[in-house]
Amino acid sequence: MQTRFTALVGCSVPLQQAPMGAVSSPDLAVAVADAGGVGTITCLGVPTAVFVRRLDDMRRRTPGVLSANVLLEDTDEDAVVAAAERVRVVDFFWFDPSPRLVDLVHRAGALVGWQVGSVEEARVAADAGCDLVTAQGREAGGHVRGDRPLLPLLAEVLDAVPIPVLAAGGIADAHAFAAVLSAGADGARIGTAFVATTESAAHPVYKQALVDAAGDGTVLSSAFARGCPLCTIRPRHRVLRSAVERAAASDEEVIGTVTAGGGRVALPRGAGLPPHTAVDGDVAAMALYAGAGVGAVTAVRTAAEVVADLTSALTSHDGPAAPPS
Ligand SMILES: Cc1cc2nc3c(=O)[nH]c(=O)nc-3n(C[C@H](O)[C@H](O)[C@H](O)COP(=O)(O)O)c2cc1C
Repeated sequence: MQTRFTALVGCSVPLQQAPMGAVSSPDLAVAVADAGGVGTITCLGVPTAVFVRRLDDMRRRTPGVLSANVLLEDTDEDAVVAAAERVRVVDFFWFDPSPRLVDLVHRAGALVGWQVGSVEEARVAADAGCDLVTAQGREAGGHVRGDRPLLPLLAEVLDAVPIPVLAAGGIADAHAFAAVLSAGADGARIGTAFVATTESAAHPVYKQALVDAAGDGTVLSSAFARGCPLCTIRPRHRVLRSAVERAAASDEEVIGTVTAGGGRVALPRGAGLPPHTAVDGDVAAMALYAGAGVGAVTAVRTAAEVVADLTSALTSHDGPAAPPS
């Protein structure tokens, strides 16, 4: 189906796979792009040269639409420009929309998306020159920017800005996806449902914990703020309640290790790193970020199966009409 988002970025399914730190592997992004959505990786914690090689390799592997995510205001601008030269959309989150960065990306040839947590922030993003915004509701997995539930926030943002708007937070099944499109969204940004895929780099224990979680199994918490650069600004993330409880019950100072710089680095209890395949230890007590739609995650599947399932209830009548081209 066509929306203002698909027309703008050139994908065939109105869906962006959310950036999710190391969990959103190149394999996952390529699989989502191949399935017609927008596949996304993030540059956080990745040296610029490695990030550039990764993007070049992904471009060789898929003709689909890719995006790259920037989370920190002090990100190396060379990385931002290099990303903009290689992907269709450079995607920002967690700091105030910046006309200077928007201009930098546009000059390098990409579109700019900004994930926002309030209608005020959406207006600032549109005024800064962004090409699209994502309205993130409090149902979202991972770090949560605002306080509003998704549907009222989405309605306000759609009224406030003239650019395409994606909806994010708790969308993990066909019904929820169709509902946000019917509410006027130009597409959805989806994270948690893609953590539990064969292509994601999430640790197998993390994937299984999502499959096992019930619909009320997430909480907004500040339990996993240690060493997290986002939490120094605002410590607020949605995670599995089971992870918060298990971390609270542990009296270990170090609960695991992660491969870094050719060696193993200790992971303190309460670390913000979502556990991926290079982590070992008490994974169930780590930052198992998950959105409020986790009850719909019932199996580990391929990303293509997740995209097919999410879009199975869409009809050509859902969502806003594409503008004439
Ligand atoms: C494991 C995980 C890691 C995340 N990491 C990032 C990130 O690196 N950058 C970012 O912009 N958003 C990140 N997010 C938030 C997403 O952009 C998005 O708002 C969220 O996944 C939407 O809610 P959902 O998970 O319920 O689909 C993350 C979400 C999860 C679940």
